[in-house]
Amino acid sequence: MTEGPTRTDFDQYMIPTYAPASFIPVKGKGSVIVDQQGKEYIDFAGGIAVNALGHANEKLKQALNEQAESLWHIGNGYTNEPVLKLAKQLVESTFADKAFFCNSGAEANEAALKLARKYGHDNHGAAKNEIVAFTNAFHGRTLFTVSAGGQPKYSQDFAPLPGGIKHVGFNDLEAAKAVIGANTCAVIVEPIQGEGGVVPADRAFLQGLRDLCDQHDALLIFDEVQTGVGRTGQLYAYMHYAVQPDVLCTAKALGGGFPIGAVLTTDKFASTLSVGTHGTTYGGNPLAAAVGNAVLTEINQPVFLQGVQDRHNLYVSRLNEINEKFELFKEIRGLGLLIGCELTAEHSGQAKLISNLAAQQGVIFLIAGPDVIRFAPALNIPEQDIETGLARFTAALEIYLRKE
Ligand SMILES: Cc1ncc(COP(=O)(O)O)c(C=O)c1O
Repeated sequence: MTEGPTRTDFDQYMIPTYAPASFIPVKGKGSVIVDQQGKEYIDFAGGIAVNALGHANEKLKQALNEQAESLWHIGNGYTNEPVLKLAKQLVESTFADKAFFCNSGAEANEAALKLARKYGHDNHGAAKNEIVAFTNAFHGRTLFTVSAGGQPKYSQDFAPLPGGIKHVGFNDLEAAKAVIGANTCAVIVEPIQGEGGVVPADRAFLQGLRDLCDQHDALLIFDEVQTGVGRTGQLYAYMHYAVQPDVLCTAKALGGGFPIGAVLTTDKFASTLSVGTHGTTYGGNPLAAAVGNAVLTEINQPVFLQGVQDRHNLYVSRLNEINEKFELFKEIRGLGLLIGCELTAEHSGQAKLISNLAAQQGVIFLIAGPDVIRFAPALNIPEQDIETGLARFTAALEIYLRKE
């Protein structure tokens, strides 16, 4: 047993923004984590879609250690080799011509929204400042991104909020058409709403937004913070939909567990953020960029991405078997290794309880709202870990149903 801080220390020393589990993970290898008591858990949560290559991946360790021996941080008065390599890799693998680096998903979205506002101001005047976003969206926790997010519970206590943001229903193209106009500078959308319940966009909806943005010279921003870097079985979800954004925000899995975020865009829009208009101390930090390079090199290969799709198929067939037995899920949905199981009305609100019972059985996963169980495991999770984790999940469901 490890001596160390306890869960009680959290309540004593931490500002209570989180309600962490009662156990404290201390190490991880691949898709297995171990807590202070030595208990093992199969990890279907992946650090909220971050640990794309699992825990303590050898290639990422090597990239980080090598960079740690040379240059840790230099600041943006200088550029550095890892960030130049990463920018090149991202540009060569996507629609983008240019990249901007930051440290998180919220910062990437914040930068994208600022870029869109400035593009509107510079090219069409101050009135072109409206942002269209969608109900149930999640874009991060800065004041701008929480305002663009479509869940008032995250923003209402922080008023006054930045103005000029309109929300309409996700996948409701007619409603979007009604609000997108000459004064719209940007439309921001998740190709799959992650926190909002693992709800994929319809292709026609995204294509419709693309057309409306073209019509009004507004920027189409895809928030791929959760769906990016192989999560859906394509490098980015826009490739799956064959709808190209003007700006793409990526973070989470890009660092495989090391904090990094990026904004990708085309030459047309990149010049808007001219010298001095935006920045961040750690953006493009050599340690983060070195890890990002190793992550992308590993993931952006057809056989790796096919592996994500194969794992999706295994999950979905096993989840269907589980559902035939228990009839708990109204729907099993998602792409690649972002999978949501929505509970039936009878079990509404029980996702958290089920996840607590599952942790007792030795498997952890996420929820997306009170009714959706969400799986976002490492993209290279071994098949055997999927089987073991889902067997433990099944055991938890049996306990849940007995308790009812
Ligand atoms: C779609 C989406 N956008 C933005 C964010 C915010 O990212 P971060 O927590 O790194 O700021 C998240 C985080 O869950 C997300 O899922």
